[in-house]
This record gives sequence, C-alpha cells and structure tokens, in this order.
Amino acid sequence: MDKTQLIECAKEARELSYSPYSHFAVGAAVLCADGSVYPGANVENSSYPLCMCAERNALYNAMMDGKTRDDFVAFALIADSTEPCSPCGACRQVLSELYPESAPIYMANLKGDVKETTVLELLPFAFSGDDL
Ligand code: THU
Repeated sequence: MDKTQLIECAKEARELSYSPYSHFAVGAAVLCADGSVYPGANVENSSYPLCMCAERNALYNAMMDGKTRDDFVAFALIADSTEPCSPCGACRQVLSELYPESAPIYMANLKGDVKETTVLELLPFAFSGDDL
C-alpha cells in the first residue's frame, strides 16, 4: 500500500468520526509491515475532556489486534483543515511511545495537500520511559 492509499484509508475512517460538538472530523490509519491497516476516527463526548483523537484510536485499534511499534511502517491522518492536519500534543506524546520515531507520518487535508513528517520532528526532546 502506498502513501495515497493509506491517506484514502484515513479519509474513509474519518467518515466514522463522532464529532457532534466540534464538527471537526478527523481520520487516521496506521499501516503495518504485513500490509494490514488499522483505522481510527475521533470520538467525542458531551463531557469534553473525554473526547478521543483519531490518531490514538488508530494506534489502540492496531494494538488490540496484537500489533506493536515494531509492526508499524506508516501513519496517515486527515481532516477538512486549511493546512494538512497536524497531530495534537497528546497524540504526539502517544505516537512517541507507540510509533517508530523515524517512520513516516503523512498529514493531509481534504484539498489534497500532504506533508510528511516523523515523531522526531513532531516531538523533539520527548519525555519517555527512559526518563523514569
Ligand atoms: N482531533 C483529533 O482527532 N486529532 C488531532 O490531532 C486534533 C484534534 C479531534 C479532537 C476533537 O474531537 C476535534 O478534533 C476538535 O479538536
């Protein structure tokens, strides 16, 4: 699966977003070395702090099927944003824990803009288990 197909998977996941409060639907998808892809979308709650982002749902979805950091080879997220959708701070921290630091992360929007980055770029000097 190439970059465009992975972004398309994230776009399909976005259709499952439950975002009645922000009306900001986000989709994500993580690709594994065996070719499997795990989608995620943001799921909101009337108690706002309980909202869960698309990126974390995608990673947790993969983990619930037994996948771990070593399996992940690419990640995509997409929203109807002016610029390619950028992961929030919480998701950057979770990506730094669960996703390989140099593997590609494709940030996209519905207009077709795509930016490629990595965890290392998104969260330099990350706090990690090594710091405990
Ligand atoms: N959201 C994500 O799903 N991922 C991000 O990285 C940015 C924010 C969601 C959370 C909330 O449901 C909505 O977008 C508005 O913040």
